Amino acid sequence: MMTQTVMSRKEDMLAFAVDLAQKAALMALHGARDMEGVEVSMKSPTEVVTSIDRKLEEFIVESIARRYPGHGIVAEEDTSRGVGQSHTWFVDPLDGTNNFVRGIPFYGTSIALAIDGKPHLGVCALPVTGEIFWAQSGCGAFANGEKIRVSNTAFLKEAIVAVGLPVLQGGHTGPLERLVKLVPGVRGIRRLGSAALDFCLVASGRLDALWEEGLKPWDVAAGAVILSEAGGVVTRVDGSRFDLYKGDVVGGNEAMNRSVLASFGVARW
Ligand code: IPD
Ligand code: CA
Ligand code: CA
Repeated sequence: MMTQTVMSRKEDMLAFAVDLAQKAALMALHGARDMEGVEVSMKSPTEVVTSIDRKLEEFIVESIARRYPGHGIVAEEDTSRGVGQSHTWFVDPLDGTNNFVRGIPFYGTSIALAIDGKPHLGVCALPVTGEIFWAQSGCGAFANGEKIRVSNTAFLKEAIVAVGLPVLQGGHTGPLERLVKLVPGVRGIRRLGSAALDFCLVASGRLDALWEEGLKPWDVAAGAVILSEAGGVVTRVDGSRFDLYKGDVVGGNEAMNRSVLASFGVARW
């Protein structure tokens, strides 16, 4: 009885997150149809933000706080609250803001729940393709209700790999050096501009692997659960365990994760 109650609470949380991400993604789509009404500004010398990012975040954060007042929320646009709780939500209201601003249809809403620091459920809604991806620890990963799985690609020379490089400052050339090592060994590289989208495309086997650096917890929390539950392996670029707060990830099926790491000259540990 007790286990059943815990299970249904977890299912409730997933259904709640799916509904929320879907509503937010629709709001983004409506915003994109009237770009004249969208304010665009720089929140740092390299980062753009819009009134839609802030509007979606307010909607998502208020909704979570109303439904789960005891949970913490870490959100990109400065409306975090209750940080340090055992149940903490990670919210990226609009992942791919640069794309959104320029009418490139690669953006979405990403919402995850971590329990005791471990991502437990993740949802990414991609409004332009009308796809919603979700996963919950131990329950598999789904796109629009259909179970998804990583590709079976075994060799890097057959792989299409998503990359996500940070804006490089202060002579930090590590990512460029890794890019130079990776490119000659793969069939193709994609830089789509939305980490959430990259995770979902790898999880559904349309891309074979991803390698990204300079990310924040809200960029990776949902995607990491979705990719892991789709049979993928997600690690850091040095081959160590995935860490929500470290910002670098290598993901794909077992062979792809190992092969991308090997191209950087490292092994998994
Ligand atoms: C960005 C995207 C991009 C990644 C950046 C992120 P935002 O998120 O995910 O692909 O390379 O590091 O900041 O700012 O559009 O939410
Ligand atoms: Ca993001
Ligand atoms: Ca964002």
